[in-house]
Amino acid sequence: MYFHKYLIAGNFEFVKQCKAGQWATLGKTRYRLHLTEFQDDIYRLRVESPRWPQSFSQAGLTPPPVLKKNGTRARSRITLDRGCGIRLVDDRGRVILQSPSGQTFGLCGDASLFMFRREACHQFYGMGEKSTGLEHSGRRTKFWNTDVWADFHVAQFRDGTPDPMYVSIPYLIVKRDNTYVGLLLDNPHATFMDTSASVAIAGQMALKGVDHSCFLLGAENGQPDLYLIYGPSLAELTCKLQKLVGCTPLPPAWALGYHQCRWGYTSAGDLDELDQKFRKHGIPCDGLWLDIDYMDGYRVFTINKKHFPDPKGAMSRLKAHGRKVVPILDPGVKLEKGYAVYDDGRKADAFCRNPQGREFVGLVWPGKTVFPDFSTTEGRAWWARHVERFAANGIHGAWLDMNDPATGHADHMQMLFDHGRAPHETFHNQYALGMAMASRAGFEKAHPGQRPFLLSRSGSTGIGRYAAIWTGDNYSNYHHLKGSIACSLNLALSGVPFNGPDIGGFGGDTTPELITAWMKAGFLFPFCRNHSISGSREQEPWAFGPKVMRTLRRYIRLRYVLRPYLYNLFVAQEERGEAIMRPLFYDFADTKSLPLGKIQDQFMVGPAIMQAPLLEEGQTSREVILPGTGAWYSLMDGKWLKGNRRISVTPTLVQTPIFLREGTIIPVVANQGESNAFDGCRVVFHILLKRDSRSAAEMTYVFDDGATLAYQQGKQSRLLVRARVRRGNLEITTKLTGNGFGPCDSTFVTYDKFAQVSVNGHILVRPGQLSARLGNE
Ligand code: GLC
Repeated sequence: MYFHKYLIAGNFEFVKQCKAGQWATLGKTRYRLHLTEFQDDIYRLRVESPRWPQSFSQAGLTPPPVLKKNGTRARSRITLDRGCGIRLVDDRGRVILQSPSGQTFGLCGDASLFMFRREACHQFYGMGEKSTGLEHSGRRTKFWNTDVWADFHVAQFRDGTPDPMYVSIPYLIVKRDNTYVGLLLDNPHATFMDTSASVAIAGQMALKGVDHSCFLLGAENGQPDLYLIYGPSLAELTCKLQKLVGCTPLPPAWALGYHQCRWGYTSAGDLDELDQKFRKHGIPCDGLWLDIDYMDGYRVFTINKKHFPDPKGAMSRLKAHGRKVVPILDPGVKLEKGYAVYDDGRKADAFCRNPQGREFVGLVWPGKTVFPDFSTTEGRAWWARHVERFAANGIHGAWLDMNDPATGHADHMQMLFDHGRAPHETFHNQYALGMAMASRAGFEKAHPGQRPFLLSRSGSTGIGRYAAIWTGDNYSNYHHLKGSIACSLNLALSGVPFNGPDIGGFGGDTTPELITAWMKAGFLFPFCRNHSISGSREQEPWAFGPKVMRTLRRYIRLRYVLRPYLYNLFVAQEERGEAIMRPLFYDFADTKSLPLGKIQDQFMVGPAIMQAPLLEEGQTSREVILPGTGAWYSLMDGKWLKGNRRISVTPTLVQTPIFLREGTIIPVVANQGESNAFDGCRVVFHILLKRDSRSAAEMTYVFDDGATLAYQQGKQSRLLVRARVRRGNLEITTKLTGNGFGPCDSTFVTYDKFAQVSVNGHILVRPGQLSARLGNE
């Protein structure tokens, strides 16, 4: 697979005339175009042809019902003209997206292409996991899961922008001022996009006369199947996309805590030591992670007896201290007769084959390895059985690594699926998805009624239903710190809301300044784990001396303070598909004076919290955009600031610019976040209103046991909290709108001096008494 050679439009033959639903021929290919209109302004353009007798997609998309002729009125309309031109028009008659008639859909052998007109105002986002920044104009890219450190030169992955990366989601968001359309290719093969990139020869001479009037999405093979989703807002678009690809199930609360990892933790003793140190330093932590060294000779599903004489005992001891142990699972199974997992897989015919019909052999940690075939139900069931047995040691989550799949220097194109019947490219991008599906099934069987937590390196469309994603092997440098924001934001917009980078950086040695900057920037990412490579300097929060530790602890604790808020963002994700981490233009419209489309050093965590971290080495101040017309409460200096402008901030060494949005309510824990114990029933609501706030604030706080699936049977409660300011008084009302988990004990923190504060009509306090401030020293 070449990463820098692309199929170009010039080699494609385009359909010039067509009628949806009727067979036609283009070159040697017989085909039929189908256009389906679903509710919620979702459209699907699918091409049926004997060339692609089946779709190999395992994405499991769930579009809404087909639009009935006289059904719910759509807010947009799509037309396919006789020249095969597509036009998407909104309810005001504005053309939102159109293709060049006679050049909409093209074929070249097994490859296919969809082309659209590019307008000067277009900006592009999404594309799943990319290291190339937030906005994707002028980009040419492939979607083919890579093992980044094995597939690129060190200079590229340390200081550059390797592309493609571990996750393939061929989804493109087209922004047109404040209107958005999403384009999703449901095709697991190698796919590509070109958002009108410039063309250069030998990386030097820009080619003249290249047409930049279009952007395109294509596939090297596989049934052409394109979903078009009309927003119109980015928030609506993201919810629609998320429901189409499947929302992320509510994780256990412990998965939203802080996680400590390192390639090098080997034994029960190592974990006990970590546990003690976290306690000693008063740093809350939920997850202790085990990298490959816990295994017996890197054999998957084994635990080294010398290092873990009593695995179950170790897990339950740590559990009693509030820690969950998350071991790594690599798909590569050591090829070794007598190793029970290998023998069993061989007997079950569970491994991928090579073109000779024998087991495909690759080279991973244990040496020669074979690979479970996750494309088949039997292969997944076989893996799930082993996960179930393994999880019975008291393990509630797993870290799914090397599932790109990494095969060392063995060419993976010889790895065939479905008992040798399906070529590699049909399931390459879906390998991790199959592994995650099987692993989740295994955990669910081992611990019925519990919510499992899986973290995966690779993935494809739909992965968010099964696993969170961490953005793979990054490096301890400022380039990666900066890039982590854009990468996580685009993943979030592409159907993977639960994601985050290795905080502090994986490769190389971090520095006290870098880990501090990274923790400040990353402590509220949906997934928060500190991880580093074997042989690098120690990276635990206490490894940099007491001063640095205090700052790291402050932000880890603040994550725990805010965990009820984070948890509720995950509830909103599961119920409605809302993004957790968002670019500014998710919640705020672009204006002429404050264009937001390229802001990648600020982000929102949910609708209420905005971060604007320092991301450069030695940086002491920065400019911050305060978007929207409402005010922002600066946590740094405990002041309300007017919105809709740029300001300059100079945080102290322990501070980071965090702003709370006027008109929101933030639920937090009742303590200072010293403990990782989860108790949804005691909550403090921070009411972000000031004396002159015009609009009311409202939120429904959802709480349950934070661990089991009982909430699906109604064991969950909902408290509707409303607040408004009238004649200088703050009036708060609460109402339990769902009582499946009983009531909660709630208190309130206000952010201005009010003449009176009342809760459900009872006057609570006089001015100035509610002085607690979130994280403000
Ligand atoms: C891969 C993973 C990394 C892990 C290492 C050893 O490089 O991406 O996180 O530490 O393998 O298992």
